[in-house]
Amino acid sequence: MSTRSEQSAPTVPKHVVRGHAKPGPQVIVLFGATGDLAKRKLLPGIYHLFVAGLLPDEFRVIGCAPPEFALSDDDFRSSAHSACQQFGNCKPDESWDSFASRLSFGAASPEDPSALVAAVSEAEKAIHAATGRRKNGVHIGRLFHLAVPPAAFVSVVQMLGSSGLATDDSKVIIEKPFGTDLASSKELNETVHSVFAESRVFRIDHFLGKESIDNILAFRFANGLFEPIWNRQHIKYVQIDVPETLTVEARAGFYNATGAYRDMVVTHLFQVLAFVAMEAPTSLAAKPLRDEKGKVFDALKPIDTRHVVRGQYEGYRDIKGVPADSDTETMIALRCEVENWRWHGVPFYLRSGKALKASRQVITLGFHAAPVRMFHTHRHDAPEGMVNEIIIDFADPGAISIEFMAKMPGPEMTLGASTLSFQYKDSFAAANALEGYERLILLAMLGDQSLFTTADGIDRVWEISEPLLKSPPPVQPYAVGTWGPAAVDKLISPYRWALK
Ligand code: BG6
Repeated sequence: MSTRSEQSAPTVPKHVVRGHAKPGPQVIVLFGATGDLAKRKLLPGIYHLFVAGLLPDEFRVIGCAPPEFALSDDDFRSSAHSACQQFGNCKPDESWDSFASRLSFGAASPEDPSALVAAVSEAEKAIHAATGRRKNGVHIGRLFHLAVPPAAFVSVVQMLGSSGLATDDSKVIIEKPFGTDLASSKELNETVHSVFAESRVFRIDHFLGKESIDNILAFRFANGLFEPIWNRQHIKYVQIDVPETLTVEARAGFYNATGAYRDMVVTHLFQVLAFVAMEAPTSLAAKPLRDEKGKVFDALKPIDTRHVVRGQYEGYRDIKGVPADSDTETMIALRCEVENWRWHGVPFYLRSGKALKASRQVITLGFHAAPVRMFHTHRHDAPEGMVNEIIIDFADPGAISIEFMAKMPGPEMTLGASTLSFQYKDSFAAANALEGYERLILLAMLGDQSLFTTADGIDRVWEISEPLLKSPPPVQPYAVGTWGPAAVDKLISPYRWALK
């Protein structure tokens, strides 16, 4: 006899649900294993996946770096331990030894990958021995994660090809920024495709692995309430605002060559914009989801430099490694437009930068005012009357609030601003949450590309960026700890930034 829940459970086609299958046996090679990203995010993330039981039953992690930074296996294990201790949400516990026994190190340079080749072969032998099957009896996936500076992407990919490490079905995760403009992105895609088929390429943007960004899909498409008003008839502006209080001190070399536009807007903010603006995909499988995102990128108008403000914080040029005449922007605000049926005429304001007043990650959708005004409002900061906003705070753990007007208690019909709010931290089992990188590494192991960027998508984003990259407006100075130059407020006028 079947149970009640079995009887009443709706049938969900398999392809609709993003899989929680466990990946098969896997060797993960972490290029840049001694670098900052590996220590802060990747090693702690992989350890958390292990503790959460989400890694394959048999896996090995091989740290890789150029020979001059080579570590012994034991040194790599202890550096991974310190990284998890210092940066992980999941601190090393009694499961550490079992995890550490699966870590090893193999140095590689483009000229000499032999130590890495040997380490991969050892790791695969160990997996075969552990699974107790013959060499060809069990399939072992190889996942290469390129957590290296963008300038090294090409040489690492070529080395993976020439050394034979990249087999037909191995996968590669490539960090960002993917190129610096359209030409370099195309060139990089060409090199990558000479070694890996597109179905094996995972261009990573860790924002897309955030629970709150994925939740945009749930918020919009799992409710009948919001989607009918999610368009130009009801929404008058969208803001995607990611200010940071951090300065660039420790990363001056990388940052000065990159700037806020390439570091944040191309890489992260446009991806978030696509989730906000896309049409409903036919399912959450990779193709339909990425196709809909791609259509948003196609509809983006080329950036109009009259609607761009580039700022540079005071003192930036004094940082060691930054030229005294640097024109790199440390903050940027811009207006862009998605020229399609749904969004025609709705400005999308994007802002991000360093040394700003707050560290936040917020999407704000502002709605048209009610057509008839019959109330007194106590809000003096709403020149157009009553402002409804949906505010999606996507910094982990994330929250959503809806700003609306309510009657204030008392004899008069006077309105005050009120908030309906959903907080991830109070609503679900926080322990189940995965960080962006954790989620994405897991999906890459499963071969699921749904939350990764396509070659065409990234090329298109560079294409619409050309006017700005060719003729960037001059940088304007701003004081550390402010919201940037005054022009940033003019850019959004007659509206206001929700963060203030
Ligand atoms: C990175 C940028 O991709 O994202 C950094 O290079 C930025 O400059 C960071 O600080 C922000 O991401 P998170 O997850 O730390 O908020």
